[in-house]
Amino acid sequence: MTEQTKQPNSFEARDSASVVHPLTNLKEHLKKGPVIINDGKGIWVTDIHGKKYIEGMSGLWCLSLGYGQERLVEAATKQLQKLPYYHLTNHKSHQPVIELAEKLLKIAPVPMSRIWFSNSGSEGNDSAARIVWYYWNSKKQPKRRKMISHLRAYHGNTIASASLSGMHYNHASFGLPLDGFLHVTPPHHYRYSQEHEDEDMFTSRLADELEAMILKEGPDTIAAFFTEPIMGSGGVIVPPDTYYEKIQVVLKKYDILLVADEVITAFGRTGNMFGTTTMKLVPDMIVCAKGLSSAYLPISALMINERVFKEMSEKSDEIGVFGLTFTYSGHPVSAKVAIETLKIYEEKNIVEHVRQMEPFLLNGLRELSYHPLVGEIRGKGLLAGVELVANKKTRKAFNPKIGVGKFCAERAEHHGLIIRAIGDTISFCPPLIIKENEIALMISLFKKALDDTLSMTSET
Ligand SMILES: Cc1ncc(COP(=O)(O)O)c(C=O)c1O
Repeated sequence: MTEQTKQPNSFEARDSASVVHPLTNLKEHLKKGPVIINDGKGIWVTDIHGKKYIEGMSGLWCLSLGYGQERLVEAATKQLQKLPYYHLTNHKSHQPVIELAEKLLKIAPVPMSRIWFSNSGSEGNDSAARIVWYYWNSKKQPKRRKMISHLRAYHGNTIASASLSGMHYNHASFGLPLDGFLHVTPPHHYRYSQEHEDEDMFTSRLADELEAMILKEGPDTIAAFFTEPIMGSGGVIVPPDTYYEKIQVVLKKYDILLVADEVITAFGRTGNMFGTTTMKLVPDMIVCAKGLSSAYLPISALMINERVFKEMSEKSDEIGVFGLTFTYSGHPVSAKVAIETLKIYEEKNIVEHVRQMEPFLLNGLRELSYHPLVGEIRGKGLLAGVELVANKKTRKAFNPKIGVGKFCAERAEHHGLIIRAIGDTISFCPPLIIKENEIALMISLFKKALDDTLSMTSET
């Protein structure tokens, strides 16, 4: 974190909201023990005691098609019988991964040239970071090593992707971020704007901040900018309309690569197949995972454009081996499940379904804006966040030690709804197959949790 980014805004009252505390600490977790989930159907899961919950977060933002998709089970079973494993090194490949790569290139939101497979979002971002370095070495600009991303971003938990992340708890006590990983203010107007700053002024200031950082560090040292089109684990932050337009001008000016981390936002989540389209980005690389296989099996894909691929291939000719492979990269069973998942998205016209459901989720939540605890309601598609505040007028946050968000999520769980507290923002990311009546039920359960939380805060 640089000096520049330590002061999110001038509102003293708002500052404590920049602390995103984890859901629970280890001691508390061990004492309480987990809810043990036994099975699932559609958007529902059941625990070992038979209690049912709506899975309002698609697990960890990933189970897009919900539970019980027999076609995915069948695709995996058949592939396990035919060819349970092969790798992608030493001039080897296999049919499922070729078909999947071709399919992904066809649906890519901007022209892409190649796909690099790995097993998780973290590995996808880690690979992207390494390819960025490889690219600049190949271009004979080895000083370009630094990466810029957002405070409150979440890009994963390998050492590089945790360094890209802008979360205190991914860094503190781990000796992270690594040197050269820099963080700028997140594009969250509600929390980080200054007094009397409208969205346009705010995004101009953020673009200026980015440019100032680039100039201070030296433009010839900056390799890439990583961004989630809509930030997920940072609290579902939807950047203002003009943000990416201005940021991309700065990146272009200094010839900095742009990597879109679409681990949450790809495959319909925001009302387009890719968040890149929703937020009007033109990235050089796109990382996707989670919804790629609807989380039925681990797989991630890194899309690489021709600009980057050309340098990769030239450098690798010189070195001999492109040293970035994992044993399970593009695993055939995961690849087959991903192909089937993409087919189901198409057949169900999942993008259209998300567009139709979006108003039920977002307007449904907005009906709670009268509630004394509800500060901001934000989202796109079937991704939403509700920020709970101590004072609606001043946007004053609760003292994080009270754990208001955590209490609210626990109450929701009590009422049969699994949602997630990110600090005091409650996030929603239901399976994309959710229907209108199920959204209504989810919101009514959330309302009960909100009322319980209000009683708790009134007592403290
Ligand atoms: C935007 C984003 N990037 C990367 C990751 C890391 O993915 P994984 O947990 O599969 O490594 C996540 C996980 O939540 C994410 O939300």
